[in-house]
Amino acid sequence: MYLPGFQPLVLVYGAIISRTLRIEPHGRMKVAVFGLGYVGTVTAGCLAANGHDVWGVDPDELKVAAVSAGHSPVVEPGLDALLAESVSSGRLHATVHPQDALEGADASLLCVGTPSTTSGESNLAYIYRVVEDLIQPLKSSMRPRAFHTVVIRSTVPPGTVEDVTAILQAAFQDSDLDVGAAMCPEFLREGTGIADFYSPPYTVIGTSDLRAIDVVSRLFSFIDSPIRAVHPRTAEALKYACNAFHATKVSFANELGRVFGRLGVDSREVMDLFCEDSRLNISPKYLRPGFAFGGSCLPKDLRSLLYLARSESIDIPLLSGALASNRLSIDEAIDRVVAGGGNRVALLGLSFKAGSDDLRESPYVDLAETLLGKGYEVRIHDPVVNPLSLVGANRQYVESKLPHLRRILTEGPKEAIAGADVALVSCSASEVIDALLGDPPPRIIDLDGRLGREIEALQGYEGFAW
Ligand SMILES: NC(=O)c1ccc[n+]([C@@H]2O[C@H](COP(=O)([O-])OP(=O)(O)OC[C@H]3O[C@@H](n4cnc5c(N)ncnc54)[C@H](O)[C@@H]3O)[C@@H](O)[C@H]2O)c1
Repeated sequence: MYLPGFQPLVLVYGAIISRTLRIEPHGRMKVAVFGLGYVGTVTAGCLAANGHDVWGVDPDELKVAAVSAGHSPVVEPGLDALLAESVSSGRLHATVHPQDALEGADASLLCVGTPSTTSGESNLAYIYRVVEDLIQPLKSSMRPRAFHTVVIRSTVPPGTVEDVTAILQAAFQDSDLDVGAAMCPEFLREGTGIADFYSPPYTVIGTSDLRAIDVVSRLFSFIDSPIRAVHPRTAEALKYACNAFHATKVSFANELGRVFGRLGVDSREVMDLFCEDSRLNISPKYLRPGFAFGGSCLPKDLRSLLYLARSESIDIPLLSGALASNRLSIDEAIDRVVAGGGNRVALLGLSFKAGSDDLRESPYVDLAETLLGKGYEVRIHDPVVNPLSLVGANRQYVESKLPHLRRILTEGPKEAIAGADVALVSCSASEVIDALLGDPPPRIIDLDGRLGREIEALQGYEGFAW
């Protein structure tokens, strides 16, 4: 079943190359799939069903025998039928010998386990074992000047593809064969493995090798999802981000259920409504790495929820962790100022978010207060904040935290920056950008990530969390 056509290929690796390429319909490729577990068996079955010549490799003879007989070694709906059809049509084979699978192969897909060690670290022994297993068979079987791509589909820590690339480069440096490596994370879930395999949100190819992008794009060209070519570390980290988020979502809902249930609230009704909001709740909002949250609502209402839980003797460590984690962002900014030396700090942006003059529980007020307490000379500019027009609780809050605000608040950003050793910047108003470009301080710590490429190119630029 070949599905010819166009694939949107978006290259986001390196300095903004964003374009759409035409990917030709794939031809039949020979592929070695290492690891016949949940990921490897689904991958092997689906690739074979789409015309590739697939060889599954696993040291477990029982799994190899099962696949060779057209049976799935793992329980996965639809997989038995898929394997039976692929084996009988001669497109799927299984073996315990890597050399059988690698003879003339265009690509190896690594789907081996990466289990936790007792310390929590991923055990990459199976990955490196496969990489070692590849070298001799490829050397003895590849055509001269042929190119082979090693594609990691297992979940691995950032840096693994670069390590694997270095091993392969060292092994093949004196040979006229060429081997590249890429990370292509798998997004399937057990139980819906085949359907997920065919409709991932995207096919992510993490590599610095354009030939590997071409091979992987052609291999998966029957999948109608966009292709994202990115830095290998981005592809590796993405899978951790996805799984950490999914785990956090489950714990978030469960912690709310634990508290609300005790308070006589129907937590399922609450969460159904919660999920209806795709503007702020189920949305990209609040998911950019940056600085601490603040303002008059988030910290206050989180504290109130924690109080309710405590008064019912309920532990909600994830939600209480949110406050602790928030504090760590402020501490880190202070540590970075201290580590850089100097005594003069420009704080550009003071309110809890752009366009507001609400200073209540602004983390930037906290930053300023702590730095002043440590003896730093702090100059602050915020285009929206005018101490003369602050009223009510807002005014009381800032007077209690920064009694000398009027003295240290400058008219424009230039006055705040003049002579500063470091600028802490959360405000991306045009006058702030112009001032930073006009007279850049030795260090610019970007807390929000919206300052733009010109500022990011300055010598003293530091992203806070990127
Ligand atoms: N299970 C999932 O739903 C899922 C989804 C996405 C990603 N992943 C990731 O994919 C990877 C594989 O997961 P899985 O659940 O399929 O694992 P699994 O334990 O089911 O299968 C791993 C297979 O690798 C085999 N293996 C070990 N050493 C080998 C070698 N040298 N050569 C060939 N095969 C070898 C094992 O015998 C086993 O059959 C893991 O990194 C996992 O985190 C899993």
